[in-house]
Amino acid sequence: MRTAAAAGLLALAACGAWAADAGELARGKELFSKVQPACAVCHTLQAAGAEGQIGPALDELKPNAERVLRALKAGIGIMPSYADKLSDKDMRALASFVAQASGAAP
Ligand code: HEC
Repeated sequence: MRTAAAAGLLALAACGAWAADAGELARGKELFSKVQPACAVCHTLQAAGAEGQIGPALDELKPNAERVLRALKAGIGIMPSYADKLSDKDMRALASFVAQASGAAP
């Protein structure tokens, strides 16, 4: 564990972006179904067992983390902004999870 954490920190320092660790991805997955309104209500994402049909299927869209984060912060179309519901940390966890789970590059 300690080695993994150190590697994560190194990766973070090396690329200047945030590095998703296992805890962050697990938190993102949990939020995908638990945040209100839940992403799962509107979006399909196999890795989260979600089959929503209102928004684009994230498995097909494959948004990278930046794109997810932008949608979360500002909202898009009928999708509400989550900026007043989630901390920056939680929004990043969700963005990392969606990017990874949908098969996009981080
Ligand atoms: C009320 C339904 C609804 C909910 C809840 C919802 N979305 Fe969306 N989402 C949409 C719709 C509709 C769009 C397409 C908006 C458009 O392009 O006009 C969208 C677009 C997106 C996009 C693509 C943004 C882009 O740049 O094209 C991402 C990524 C996304 N949603 C992620 C999420 C995540 C993560 C959550 C949970 C925190 C979530 N959505 C919750 C309806 C929803």
